Amino acid sequence: MVQNTVQKEHLYFASMDVTKLAEKYGTPLFIYDVEKIRSNARAFVDAFQKENVKYQVAYASKAFSSIAMLQVAKQEGLSLDVVSQGELYTALQADFPTDRIHLHGNNKNIEEIEMAVEHDVGCIVLDNFHEIELLEYVLKKQGKEMNVLLRVTPGIEAHTHDYILTGQEDSKFGFDLANGQADKALAQLLNHDQIHVVGLHCHIGSQIFETDGFIMAVQKLFDVIDHWNTEYNYSPSVLNLGGGFGIRYTDDDEPKPLAAYVEALVAEVKKQTNARKLNMPEIWIEPGRAIVGDTAITVYKVGSIKEIPGVRTYVAVDGGMTDNIRPALYNAKYEAVVANRFNEPKSKTVSIAGKCCESGDMLIWDLQVPESIQSGDLLAVYSTGAYSYSMASHYNRFPKAAVVFVENGKDQLVIQRENFADLVKNDLRYDSL
Ligand code: LLP
Repeated sequence: MVQNTVQKEHLYFASMDVTKLAEKYGTPLFIYDVEKIRSNARAFVDAFQKENVKYQVAYASKAFSSIAMLQVAKQEGLSLDVVSQGELYTALQADFPTDRIHLHGNNKNIEEIEMAVEHDVGCIVLDNFHEIELLEYVLKKQGKEMNVLLRVTPGIEAHTHDYILTGQEDSKFGFDLANGQADKALAQLLNHDQIHVVGLHCHIGSQIFETDGFIMAVQKLFDVIDHWNTEYNYSPSVLNLGGGFGIRYTDDDEPKPLAAYVEALVAEVKKQTNARKLNMPEIWIEPGRAIVGDTAITVYKVGSIKEIPGVRTYVAVDGGMTDNIRPALYNAKYEAVVANRFNEPKSKTVSIAGKCCESGDMLIWDLQVPESIQSGDLLAVYSTGAYSYSMASHYNRFPKAAVVFVENGKDQLVIQRENFADLVKNDLRYDSL
């Protein structure tokens, strides 16, 4: 959850009166605290610097991609994980240094690979044998070389507090370790004159609080590295351990400080390299949620309030699953406050409904709010910075919300609210055939 300060009866976020921003830009409105984005990024970077190892912190732009966001990521010296031509295009529009861009995806097509090679991205994370063929073809055509990582599935699946050892992983991502696919991919690419395997990649899950799963993944990777060292005399110069570091959405969430994840990963890599007398690789990570998740709020206007005596009170807002699909899709939990009644005691329990034609379009069940909540009030939902705007849809033809960045007591619109013309801009008339 985002830290906020309160003055008078209004919610202040990043030192700004949320009600004034809502008045200026309309609702639903995403407000990002840029200073908090920077401090999250710096927490990772500083932790690596203290460890005195080579590293890259790549922002997983799927969490929230926009030109302004990628400008901030660039200013903070981050690298970038992109998974599509659209995300790569956004990065190019933000003048992001292409040598710090990593192309991901479990089904990269030829156009994506061509665009990445044409713009000389820093590396492509290869996911399967089909991509090897495509990349060989594109590199020949363009007369270029490319650094790649092999994404492997270490057989560990982690979610929040639990991790499961699956042995041979049932996953659409990456080369399987257990059945020898990863060995085969390496053998095929060793001594390749245009494709250089600089290392390994794995990503074990998302919204993970404990470090155990990450540590087990490192151990698994080192079993492979050891094997590749003896079998192929190969030693990776990069180990990309993915993202997935958890954040606080509600008071029930207890993430560790961001530095703790870096410290645990680095300690295990050092331990493994020492024990096995291997070279220390560069360590790369790819946090998305942990960079932006707790840096934004979404502000909605309250519309209808439906009281069903003895059952429930539904408070409907002017957004919902179109700007935040996470509650409907993952049963994700959020906290929220009435921004214009911040200081009033919370004595009433209500449930926050979205405005889509779908019973599942509920943002929060059983939220404590002031007794006096009424139509026209503003509801601010915390920790909506990751996978909210980026997963927004046009269901019911609602235009997408606006996004504003706030820093140093000033606000700036960074994504305009869509208008109705935007909604039909690709529609063509049909003249009966
Ligand atoms: N690297 C790879 C290869 C990934 O697949 C992901 C996320 C990340 C990094 C960044 O993970 P993060 O640090 O943000 O957890 N829509 C879901 C999350 C999907 C995550 C997909 N991959 C949600 O809203 O919870």
